[in-house]
Amino acid sequence: MRFLPDLREPKVAIVGFGWVGCCLGVALADRGLYVTGIDSDPGLVAELRAGRCRIAEPGLAEALERLRDSSRLTFDTGYDAIEDADVIVIAVGTPIAPDRSLVTAQLEAVCEALAPRLRRGQLVVLKSTVAPGTTQGLVRPLLEAGGLVQGEDFGLVFCPERLSEGNALSELVELTVIVGGCDPDSTQSATAFWKRVLGVPVWEYASPEVAEIVKLADNWWIDHNIAMANDLARLCDAFEVDVLEVISGANSLPKGNSHVNILLPSVGVGGYCLTKDPWMTWSAARGRGVRLDTIETVRAVNDAMPAYTHETISAELTRAGWDPGRAKVAILGAAFKNNTGDLRSTPVKHVVDGLLAAGTTVSIFDPLADPDELFSTMGVEGSATLEEAVDGAHCLAVLAGHEPFQQLDFAALRERVPSPCLVFDGRAYYSRETIAELRRLGFGYRGIGR
Ligand SMILES: NC(=O)c1ccc[n+]([C@@H]2O[C@H](COP(=O)([O-])OP(=O)(O)OC[C@H]3O[C@@H](n4cnc5c(N)ncnc54)[C@H](O)[C@@H]3O)[C@@H](O)[C@H]2O)c1
Repeated sequence: MRFLPDLREPKVAIVGFGWVGCCLGVALADRGLYVTGIDSDPGLVAELRAGRCRIAEPGLAEALERLRDSSRLTFDTGYDAIEDADVIVIAVGTPIAPDRSLVTAQLEAVCEALAPRLRRGQLVVLKSTVAPGTTQGLVRPLLEAGGLVQGEDFGLVFCPERLSEGNALSELVELTVIVGGCDPDSTQSATAFWKRVLGVPVWEYASPEVAEIVKLADNWWIDHNIAMANDLARLCDAFEVDVLEVISGANSLPKGNSHVNILLPSVGVGGYCLTKDPWMTWSAARGRGVRLDTIETVRAVNDAMPAYTHETISAELTRAGWDPGRAKVAILGAAFKNNTGDLRSTPVKHVVDGLLAAGTTVSIFDPLADPDELFSTMGVEGSATLEEAVDGAHCLAVLAGHEPFQQLDFAALRERVPSPCLVFDGRAYYSRETIAELRRLGFGYRGIGR
């Protein structure tokens, strides 16, 4: 193999040690490899060196603790480790600009730092999500500016990261890895590397552009599917039909190689990827004169769900005889994703803003979110306990389906709220039995599409 001749103990440097870099780096070190995490954030590096983990990914803090006194995982703000590495993974952030095009500043800074340090035989793996053509059109020339020639001296592949938050460490050793190399030697070396270090299936493509678009297609599909579920929920609301019944029936139809697979509706789509990757795709297509109408529609549908949520809550409060301008809503769960404390681009923020604008008093309880981050995101101090949030509320709005909210003791909560009190189900998807129990206790129930 031209790149990575010795597969037995490849040394890995990961540039960008945020969520993606950290999950991968820790997993590889845990599997016996020597890994250096390079990050330009000195605070992050200091925390990691002290054994602290700011990323709330199940199993990550424990694995970091296990590796704390081992030389297998080290951290740096500088690039000294590059010389020694066999494989260099790039996992820096790739945000979008106000015009929705990819912002390449972090990527460019990394490539400029790597270029003079690259040596013959190294394999560079780009993991950051990028617009089609970025690996060959931007990363390759920037790296070659150091004097080495891609394909002759060093290998370059695009391997998208497809892990989902909350399951990253288990998915790392299960999910198929997509490899798109700039040349056959790069592809072959990367395939051998991933098979050796993670033991996962690898899907090879002859160009990075295919792999770049595979990643974008995945997130486009997810966003699209959720938009359909959200529209379906609004349809079911109008016909007083339970959207979950419709979805389970519709999903029983075999189609293609699988079944119809409509995902679940919710208060909206948030997080780092789905709110930017479809727009990055749209912008890249526009640059080639192609208009992707579905992305514009899907983004608009999903972005409208927080307004639909707070308007529905206000309408239900009015129907129950409460003035939304004098009522209190207790929001249970602020993260964009169930069972995480991740507040990045959470749609709950827009629900809170909408309720506050209507004069409603809002309390928020999210046991998984960092209290300081919760305050800076929402502008509302989080409640320390469930009881504190719920006391005197006219509506309990479950907006993240965290596990503790699946087992709420509604009989006990009933004592703390006025009557009537509405349970608004934005993501818990309570069962028919739970809804019947809520009604028996004297709560009203309303869900998105339910
Ligand atoms: N978070 C996800 O769920 C997820 C999933 C799949 C793919 N991705 C993609 O992976 C990439 C990384 O995502 P993330 O969530 O880990 O981002 P992140 O913001 O958590 O991490 C990026 C890290 O890169 C560091 N960095 C920035 N410039 C640097 C430089 N010049 N040198 C060294 N370090 C630098 C930052 O300090 C930060 O710690 C993005 O392209 C993202 O779209 C993310």
